[in-house]
Amino acid sequence: MKNEPSPLFFTRSIFDQLELFEPFGSEFAIICDETVAGLYGNKLKQNLHCQLFAYHPGEKSKTRVVKQEIEDQLLQNGFSSDTTIIALGGGVTTDLAGFVAATYLRGVKLIIIPTTLLAMVDAAIGSKRAVNTPYAKNSIGALYPADAIWIDTVFLKSLSESLRLEGYSEMLKHALILSEYEFKFFEENGLPTQDLLDPIRRSVSIKQAVIEQDRTQKGYRDLLNFGHTVAHALEKLSDYSIPHGIAVAYGMLIESYLSYLEGHLSESEIKRIVNIIRKSYAPLGEITYSLDNLWQVMQRDKKSKQGIPRQVHLKRIGKAIAPCAPIDKEQFKRALIWYNDVVSQCIST
Ligand SMILES: NC(=O)c1ccc[n+]([C@@H]2O[C@H](COP(=O)([O-])OP(=O)(O)OC[C@H]3O[C@@H](n4cnc5c(N)ncnc54)[C@H](O)[C@@H]3O)[C@@H](O)[C@H]2O)c1
Ligand SMILES: [Zn+2]
Repeated sequence: MKNEPSPLFFTRSIFDQLELFEPFGSEFAIICDETVAGLYGNKLKQNLHCQLFAYHPGEKSKTRVVKQEIEDQLLQNGFSSDTTIIALGGGVTTDLAGFVAATYLRGVKLIIIPTTLLAMVDAAIGSKRAVNTPYAKNSIGALYPADAIWIDTVFLKSLSESLRLEGYSEMLKHALILSEYEFKFFEENGLPTQDLLDPIRRSVSIKQAVIEQDRTQKGYRDLLNFGHTVAHALEKLSDYSIPHGIAVAYGMLIESYLSYLEGHLSESEIKRIVNIIRKSYAPLGEITYSLDNLWQVMQRDKKSKQGIPRQVHLKRIGKAIAPCAPIDKEQFKRALIWYNDVVSQCIST
């Protein structure tokens, strides 16, 4: 398997830069969801004179069944081992189409063009490709680096505010774990509506730096999981009606408070974190799941050891501690009460 980081470029209006595709030959298959096909995929298909395979949008399509349907269509249409798969879309597409590329005829070339903010700063970066099963998210997959990742902010123009916020959560996460500079930038500017290129660049480089360091310091990658122990439990208990990025915003608040209870973060830092999240994500959702329900789901989190849920702690804003550490159930109970207090203060102010 290729073990080098994928070449990553920031492009400006990819549709006018068709020369980028030339080194990849002429056998392209675009894989995207139907929404992205309508917005961008069909245009790219016309420009490249290639075929496009679209699936129903959403997380529910990230399955072995949809993967197999796409593979069957590629086989029926005679796509050879010279094929380059173009994964054009959000994180569902980069995961699903990336996994198709990893196994089609034992692996073909892969270009990733992320179209959501979340995919630009997170899903497209790194080599993890996967589909979900009824047993767990991302449970069948492969590590398969892309041959190219092209990030183009032109796609963000059509993104809804809620999808922008989902990407923002992961950008805030990157800031909280590794860059106080970036956190201050967001404190001053929020998530800019224009000119997102530089914040995206910086966010991508934080994720890349973590992945790179994990090659020598195993477990360092845990940092990327900050906020996610609680987030995954909220997503699961809501039957995925709480979107991932929103669950991560709530999860980061609770896990920050747990870091405070552990004696790491100061009270003033907690206030700064509450303020920044409150500004963009209000009204925050109250957590009505019981302590025991949440705890049980967190016990099944992949970071748990001997049935004890674990999380990444923040030492301070811009500095997280790897690897993750056990969560104390009593402290978690206090953090939940604190979180719901914050929510009610948001409503009353
Ligand atoms: N592999 C990884 O390292 C990694 C990391 C983070 C997340 N992920 C995965 O990413 C997925 C979530 O990503 P997502 O939120 O991008 O999901 P998604 O691909 O489902 O996109 C969300 C929605 O946005 C629409 N969309 C995409 N681009 C658009 C655009 N430019 N304008 C308007 N609408 C657009 C899509 O049609 C879809 O309905 C999850 O499956 C998650 O597991 C993977
Ligand atoms: Zn995430």
